[in-house]
Amino acid sequence: MATKNTKNKILELLEKNRGESLSGEGIAKMLGMSRNAVWKSVNSLKKEGYGISSVNNRGYALLPDNDILSAAGMLPYLDNDAYASKLHIYDSLESTNKTAKEMAVSGCDHGTIVIANTQTSGKGRYKRSFYSPPDSGLYMSFVFRTEVLHFQNPSLITASVAIAVCRAIEAVSEKQPKIKWINDIFIEDKKVCGILTEAVTDFESGSIDWIVAGIGINVSNDKDDFPEELAQIAGSIFSETDKRGNKKTAARNRLAAEIINRCFELKTWLDDETVYSEYKERSMLLNRRITVTLPEGTYDATAVDVDINGHLVVRKSDGEAINLSSGQISLLQ
Ligand code: BTN
Repeated sequence: MATKNTKNKILELLEKNRGESLSGEGIAKMLGMSRNAVWKSVNSLKKEGYGISSVNNRGYALLPDNDILSAAGMLPYLDNDAYASKLHIYDSLESTNKTAKEMAVSGCDHGTIVIANTQTSGKGRYKRSFYSPPDSGLYMSFVFRTEVLHFQNPSLITASVAIAVCRAIEAVSEKQPKIKWINDIFIEDKKVCGILTEAVTDFESGSIDWIVAGIGINVSNDKDDFPEELAQIAGSIFSETDKRGNKKTAARNRLAAEIINRCFELKTWLDDETVYSEYKERSMLLNRRITVTLPEGTYDATAVDVDINGHLVVRKSDGEAINLSSGQISLLQ
């Protein structure tokens, strides 16, 4: 029987050589195993759903649209192999934030990462649901322990994660993501990512012991994939199968790895005053007319600044400046 370890090694090799065919003999030599073991493992991977072409005499290759989330698929792109040991990847979960919070409470390590191919009950801010279809999105949650990742201000974590996701998107695509305060990421005025940061407090002391940062990204959804209520506002990084009928870009493993790399760097720049200057540079709201919705009412204003506490500064038409720590913002066309 093909072992998980052998299969992972082959998968990693195929991912590293995406687009190229590797002969069974070559793989066997590189990994120090028999050709028969390679053949068995490839067959077993195919049965699990991995798209692997095996053309006589030309060897094996990952098909361009193979986009199954796996640690082996992420490993070639991780800055540090040790990050792979933090991964918990599932086909389906209610919510990766929910599972991550449960893991935090039962004492998981700082940096534990929960990833799902789909969520049956994905959570957004303001108790909204987060649309989480399979195979085209990336849903991941990080558990940060506050004793390791010291922070003065929890909103700094949300802002830093938003920047980390933008940097990761830029690493895997030609796109220029922008941040819509507080924590949505847009490409060409369509929302491609939402971030939900939740604090888990210690019951006895009441202190915040863990932060769970959940990231939901539309990676390769077709426009028609979105339900009617999202069709006008949601987009994806690699939108639509292109007009020539090419297959969608398989990028979820690489994107996940890039996000992981950048989130593990957070520690080095979290307290850095430059976080909000980069956040500001990436903001899509500044100098734009917006509608602010608060529990007590709605008004129109112009977004003028993001201050060092991560508050959005807006100016009303009578000149009054208001400093917002929360609220829902929509763009006026
Ligand atoms: C929002 O847009 O309001 C925030 C959406 C956050 C969605 C992500 S998907 C991964 C993680 N698990 C959840 O249930 N929610 C977050």
